[in-house]
Amino acid sequence: MSQQDKLWGGRFQEATDRFVEAFTASVGFDQRMYRQDIQGSLAHAAMLQAVGVLSVAEEQAIREGLEQILAEIETGQFVWRLDLEDVHMNIEARLTGRIGNAGKKLHTGRSRNDQVATDVRLYLRDAIDVIVGQLRQLMQVLLQLAQQEAETVMPGFTHLQVAQPVTLGHHVLAWLEMFFRDAERLLEVRRRVNRLPLGAAALAGTSYPIDRALTAKLLGFDSVCENSLDAVSDRDFAIEFCAAASLIMMHCSRIAEELVLWSSPMFGFIDLPDRFCTGSSIMPQKKNPDVPELVRGKTGRVYGHLMSLLTLMKAQPLAYNKDNQEDKEPLFDTVDTIQGCLRAFADMLPHVQPQRQRLREAALKGFATATDLADYLVGKGLAFRDAHEVVGRVVQDCVRREVDLTALTLAELQQFCVEIQDDVFAVLTLEGSIALRQHYGGTAPSQVRAAVVRARERLAAL
Ligand code: ARG
Repeated sequence: MSQQDKLWGGRFQEATDRFVEAFTASVGFDQRMYRQDIQGSLAHAAMLQAVGVLSVAEEQAIREGLEQILAEIETGQFVWRLDLEDVHMNIEARLTGRIGNAGKKLHTGRSRNDQVATDVRLYLRDAIDVIVGQLRQLMQVLLQLAQQEAETVMPGFTHLQVAQPVTLGHHVLAWLEMFFRDAERLLEVRRRVNRLPLGAAALAGTSYPIDRALTAKLLGFDSVCENSLDAVSDRDFAIEFCAAASLIMMHCSRIAEELVLWSSPMFGFIDLPDRFCTGSSIMPQKKNPDVPELVRGKTGRVYGHLMSLLTLMKAQPLAYNKDNQEDKEPLFDTVDTIQGCLRAFADMLPHVQPQRQRLREAALKGFATATDLADYLVGKGLAFRDAHEVVGRVVQDCVRREVDLTALTLAELQQFCVEIQDDVFAVLTLEGSIALRQHYGGTAPSQVRAAVVRARERLAAL
């Protein structure tokens, strides 16, 4: 193509180097914002018409032309051209090709700098809405699971050593809290995403009598970016999104790690459905938890994207710089990764089968009620440190004889402390132990059920 065909070709005498053309183009990845680009242009044109810069006929021609282009793109007929550099110039050139002169007026009072910032914000707003919807769906799945497993006893861990009995429902509700914060965070980020850069033009604003409030309203933005230099150069919102996304991945990864451990025959706490696992080409016995492993693995790339964007923005002088074109691939991959991982979890978790008997046995094996015995002795008048010491000796004896605390008879227990009475068995059993955690946020089945009810209400109000 000759330089005159480029939308900015006027001042150039020499054609762009072929490699430079490919090197600087972004159409390969920014074409995914075609819908937002058209949406932004429709609003810009409507605003220009409202303030008298475009005639009614021109605005109508632009609108119809853009709608046809949208259809062309969605039916796969649109030809993306590398020499037209990016999504913006591809669509604009096609518009002018279709409708002639009116198409050339669309870019009045606008620059690709405020255009791209607008497109990215619209894209991210849409992506956030999808992700928050996915988080809601996943939280529903977790609530269902928590309700169903409110009485399932399992070992709770610290240092990955059996600590105290908890219910599986309670454990699942801990996961739920992570995702709840994630959804809250995304909705906060959305507020700062949802501001209009258009009107900033290249950097200094424009001499046309634009109505930015109108454009904002047409695009559903909550407000208008205050400063034109900041409007075209700010990418904080993208960084904030990647930070929120990193936390989502960190949560997914922690849960994934538990699923990997729990589905291993060494734990045997859960069974993952075959369709979410794969086999080994050499070891016939293997059933590998690929989905959680991959979710765990994908966490790294999202953390990386956060670092990419922070580094991208570091030391950029005001206002727009071509560097900013590099914001898209990390951002898009973050969106894709988050959406994929949340979908995998929402699909898989309803089909995870808790192995209740195994969970119970594991809780019985690790002296999980030792703290309860100490608390019981405190109730009988011992100081906590003395009680701790007594129970330590009981446990040592159990370890030596390879029996569990819950298997000891009253006579055996009394050898360690004469204060121990018949009522000890109400706290030494797993059910006794969890039933005692009877407070807001506790693991007792009745508390888990109450927490599920509250969580449903919080979710509805989110
Ligand atoms: N493709 C560019 C980007 O993604 C659009 C803005 C280009 N602006 C410019 N002055 N070269 O950032």
